[in-house]
Amino acid sequence: MGRLAITGNKRPLRGAVKISGAKNAAVAIIPAAILTAAPVKIENLPDIRDIQILIEILTSLGVRTSWEAGTLEIDASSMTEWKATYESVKKLRASYYLLGALIGRFGRAIVPAPGGCDLGPRPIDQHIKGLAALGARVDVEHGLIRAEAEHLVGADIYLDVVSVGATINIMLAAVRTEGKTIIENAAKEPEIVDVANFLNAMGANIRGAGTDVIKITGVNELGGVTHSVIPDRIEAGTYMIAAAATGGDVLLRDVIPKHMDPVVAKLREMGVTVDVADDEIRVIASDLPQAVDIKTFPYPGFPTDLQSQAMVLMTRASGSSIITENVFEGRFKHVDELKRMGARIKVEGRTALIEGSARLTGAPVCATDLRAGAAFIIAGLIAEGETVISNTEHIYRGYENICRKFGALGAIIKEID
Ligand code: EPZ
Repeated sequence: MGRLAITGNKRPLRGAVKISGAKNAAVAIIPAAILTAAPVKIENLPDIRDIQILIEILTSLGVRTSWEAGTLEIDASSMTEWKATYESVKKLRASYYLLGALIGRFGRAIVPAPGGCDLGPRPIDQHIKGLAALGARVDVEHGLIRAEAEHLVGADIYLDVVSVGATINIMLAAVRTEGKTIIENAAKEPEIVDVANFLNAMGANIRGAGTDVIKITGVNELGGVTHSVIPDRIEAGTYMIAAAATGGDVLLRDVIPKHMDPVVAKLREMGVTVDVADDEIRVIASDLPQAVDIKTFPYPGFPTDLQSQAMVLMTRASGSSIITENVFEGRFKHVDELKRMGARIKVEGRTALIEGSARLTGAPVCATDLRAGAAFIIAGLIAEGETVISNTEHIYRGYENICRKFGALGAIIKEID
């Protein structure tokens, strides 16, 4: 169990940071590569634990892979295994994408049911609803999801819940399914568009990704492709919020500004200066941010994956603020740890009231999920004294070189044991 020590130096973060490829696009695009027997090359991948676990899993399924500095080459031509029961699948939240990819390739799949996590229950009923609509028989027994279909046929699917995972998973199963599939009430995240662009470059026929209606016309087979993953908007938002929280001046490189709209708008509302160029964003924060209310929503709303980081920023705001978590019930597990650092926060259901102008003091805290872990780094930067974060494997699941990147901006942060 690794730990990180952050010295609260109250020094503003200054400098430039290069944003890595998007974890939440990569963990879908890598399994999607098994939908073709042709060679696939994926570039701009972040070197993070979730990607390495996925490579292990594909290798266990007979896929030939080669990894070199953020580029992954995949050859699934000799793949025969459709049971992803390999032990490491359980470690990966996004293992459900193997379900859609294996069904899309073989018409059947066995994948361990994803466990719950610290965001509260993580049901996959909408994934199962979509796969069943395409003709798969899906059941869950002994902790395994089994899906089998004699014959997959396109269908109209109306999602009860706006779900990133279900939208992508259905897409993966449908691209080679004969007939037309329509996904309504689909999620609109940029990562979904990136997966659709990847699949279309392989010869798929997907229209409407990024809107709430996605139309897929099945094709017999897919070809190879070289694809570069989009920048990670959540990593970018994390550094933007860290710059604002420390009163810093930070330039983010390799971003897609359009994807940052909800974060840019909210920081500007707080009085933070945000300059946007074609693939760069500069955050210049001088005095204390003004208190604002934040409601998380599916894209293009304010991302739930930046909620804990924004909460830390609000502890420094002039005045009280309210954060409403509309996406995940139970995504306030970080509040108790922040209160141990001196934050004054009251939670009622999906709403948190944060008192501003709090004086945070360093303390030992435990990362409950990767975004809370990043939030504790920001809290450690603005607290007095030293903060030690445990369970840092959560953080390394989704943030590439986070110590090096924060260190280059002036943070005093180091890995211990
Ligand atoms: C994706 O998770 C992301 N993970 C999450 O990022 C992100 O927080 C989430 O989307 C929302 O943006 C990956 O992309 C790997 P959902 P996902 O299905 O797909 C409910 C991070 O920090 N729901 O959009 O699992 C669900 O309970 C991670 O990088 C159902 O009810 O999220 C939630 O309340 C954390 N039934 C809401 O929908 C289902 O079948 C949105 O979940 C599926 C979801």
